[in-house]
Amino acid sequence: MYNKNDAKRFPPVSAKVPHMIHGGDYNPDQWLPIDPDTLPKDVRLFKMAGINSASVCIFGWSAIEPEEGVYTFEWLDKTIDTLYENGIYTILATPTAARPAWLDAKYPEAMRTSNTGVKNTHGRRHNHCYTSRAYRELSKGIITKLAERYGKHPGLMMWHLNNEYGGACFCDNCKAAFRSWLRERYNGDIDALNTAWWTRFWSHTFTNFEQIDPPSPIGEDSTHGLNVDWKRFVTFKTNEYMEMEFDTVKSITPDIPVTANFMDMYGELDYSMMRDKLDVMSWDNYPDFGGDTWTDEDAFTRAAFNHDFFRTLKKKPFLVMESTPSNVNWKPINKLKRPGMHLLASLHGVAHGADSVQYFQLRKSRGSSEMLHGAVIDHVGYDTDKTRVFKDVTDVGNALARMDEIVGTCTPSEVAVLYDIDNRNMMDVMQGLNKVNRNYIETLFKHYGIFNRESINIDVLPVADDFSSYKLIIAPMLYMTKEETVKKIEKFVADGGNVVFTYHSAYVNDTGLHWLNGLPAGELRKVFGIWNEECDSLFPSQRVGIKYNENALGLSGELKARDMCELVHLEGAEAIAEYTSEFYAGMPAITVNNYGKGKAYYIAARIDKAELRKFYRAIIADTGIRRAFDFELPEGVEATVRADGKNEFVFVMNIEDSEKSFELGGEYTDIITGQKIGSELTLAPYGIVVFKR
Ligand code: GLA
Ligand code: ZN
Repeated sequence: MYNKNDAKRFPPVSAKVPHMIHGGDYNPDQWLPIDPDTLPKDVRLFKMAGINSASVCIFGWSAIEPEEGVYTFEWLDKTIDTLYENGIYTILATPTAARPAWLDAKYPEAMRTSNTGVKNTHGRRHNHCYTSRAYRELSKGIITKLAERYGKHPGLMMWHLNNEYGGACFCDNCKAAFRSWLRERYNGDIDALNTAWWTRFWSHTFTNFEQIDPPSPIGEDSTHGLNVDWKRFVTFKTNEYMEMEFDTVKSITPDIPVTANFMDMYGELDYSMMRDKLDVMSWDNYPDFGGDTWTDEDAFTRAAFNHDFFRTLKKKPFLVMESTPSNVNWKPINKLKRPGMHLLASLHGVAHGADSVQYFQLRKSRGSSEMLHGAVIDHVGYDTDKTRVFKDVTDVGNALARMDEIVGTCTPSEVAVLYDIDNRNMMDVMQGLNKVNRNYIETLFKHYGIFNRESINIDVLPVADDFSSYKLIIAPMLYMTKEETVKKIEKFVADGGNVVFTYHSAYVNDTGLHWLNGLPAGELRKVFGIWNEECDSLFPSQRVGIKYNENALGLSGELKARDMCELVHLEGAEAIAEYTSEFYAGMPAITVNNYGKGKAYYIAARIDKAELRKFYRAIIADTGIRRAFDFELPEGVEATVRADGKNEFVFVMNIEDSEKSFELGGEYTDIITGQKIGSELTLAPYGIVVFKR
C-alpha cells in the first residue's frame, strides 16, 4: 500500500475552476457569421453536459486580425462574455498556429522551407519558420493585443499557447541559426565538433561552421551526431519561439496560468526541454481502440505511457487538452467508441493524474477537413442532446462533477521507466544490429505496460531528472547512455536502488560515439558486473533457448529469445538465466549484480511479454514495490492510486470488453455514481469505479 504521507495535493490549475476541467476546442468564429444565435444555443448544451471550460481562438488569427493592424474582436468579446455569464471559463489560445493569408503574402519568409529546399506556398497550419522575424513580431503583436484586451476578464482562466508546436524549417535563416547554435555548443571549436560527430569518416571533416547544413535526404543524413544535434536545435528554436509567446502573455497577465498542448509520442521535440516555464503540462490524446493488429490493451498502455510522461515532467497533475468525444477523421479507419469506452477512456486519464477531460471539438465545423471529426455538438444542432455521443459526454460531465476532492492530488510512484528522446532519435539514424525488429517504442511500452497490468503507479522519467526517490528504475534499450546518466545510475545503485537494463543499451554517448573499453558504458561495466562483448541479430522466425539457473528471485523454467541476443561475460555478476542453444549456449542471458547497497539486472536478450512479466513480478516482490491492492486483480483489470496525504483515490478499470467479478476486500462508495460498492465487485465491459480509501 502507498505510504499516505508521501502524497500531497496541489492547488487547481486555476483558482477560478476548483473542479475537474471539462471542455475543449471551441470555434464559434466559424459559425457566428452564418448563425448569430450560435452562442446561446451552444451554451444551453454545454450546461447540460457539465462543460465548464472552452478553449477559444485556436486558429482564430484571421478572425481577429483580418488585415494587418485591423482588429475584429467583437465576436470574441461576445463569446468570452456569454461563456462567463453561464459559468464557463475561457482557455484563451494565442492564435498563432496558422497564419492569415495576408501575412504570408506580405512576409513570405514566414513560410517554411522543406529539408529538400522546397519553399512552401501558403496554406495548412503548423508550418512556420520559427526563425522568421516577421512571424515572431506579428505573433507577439497579436498576442499582446489579446492579453491587453482580455487579461482582466474574470472569465479568463488559462492561456493555451499556439497549438501542437511541431516540424522544422530548413530555410537560409534557419540554417544560419543552426550554425550559430553549433558554434556555441562546441565553443567555436570546429575540431571538437569533428571529433564529436566522427566526421573524419567518409571525408566529412568540416573546416568551418559555415559548411554545415541540416540533415537532408538529398544531402548529408548519415552523420549520427549531426542528426541528433539538429533535432536538439529544432527543440531549442521551437522553445525559444514558445518562450516568446509565454513571456508576452506573462508580462501582461502574470497570474494567469499558461500551458501548451503537446503530442502523443512526438519524436521531433524534446518536451523535457520545454517544460520549465509552463505552469501546467498538457497533451492531446487520441488512442486507437480495437483495431486489427492493435488491441485495446495496447491502446490503453500507450495512452497511459503518455499520461504518465506528461505528469512526470512536472511531477504534478496535467491536463488532457484534447480527446475525441467519438471518432476522429485522420486515421485510416475511424471507428466509433464502443459503449462505455468514452467514460472509461476519459477517466483513465484522470486515473493517471489528469485534472481534465477536454475535447477536440465542442462544435463540429460544417465544412473542410474536420467536419466529420467527432464533437460534442453535432450537425444535428438543437437535437444534439438526443445523440449517443452527447449522452456519453454528459456521463463524463456528471462523473467529473463528483471529483472535486481528487483535483490536484498526486500520483506517488516507486518505479520509473527512463524515456529519452535523444536516445530515440539516435536509434532512428543508427545503422546496424537488428534494423527490422529494433522496435524501441514497442519495447518501452512492453516493459512499462507490465506495471499497469500489475496495478502499480509508474513514472515515465527523462534521463536528466532525479532518480533518488525511486526503488526501481528500468531502462529498456537505452542505446545512448550519456555520461551523466552513467554517473547517476552508478550512484543510484550504490545507494541501494534497483535498476534493470536490457540488450541494446549503453552503446554510445550523447553524440553517438561508441563507448570504449567494453560495454556497458564506462562505470556501468562494474555496476552490472558484466562485459557485453557482441550482439547477435536473429531473423524474425528464429529463436534461441534460455533456461533459468537457480536464483534468489525464485524464477525457473525455460523460455525463448527473439530478435537480439547479446553475448555477455560475467565479471562479478551472477547469471540468473543462460542460453541453451546457439554457439553461445551456456553464456548468461539474464544477470544480476550486487553493487553497493543495490542490485543491477541486465536482460541480454529480447524475451516475450509473458516471460518479462514473470521476471518483473519477482523483482516487484523482492523490492516490496506497492500495488494499488495487496491482492491480485483479475486479468484485464487495472488500478491506479491518486493521493493527497490523507486519502487515497483508487481507480479500478476494466480495460476489456468482458464482465469481471472479484472480491474488493472492503465496502466503498463509488464516486462516479454515489452508490455503495459491495465487497463483491462486478465491473461491466469497460467498466470503472473510483472510490476513496
Ligand atoms: C490535433 C489538433 C486539433 C485537431 C485534432 C483532430 O490534435 O490539435 O486541432 O486537428 O488533432 O483530432
Ligand atoms: Zn526557416
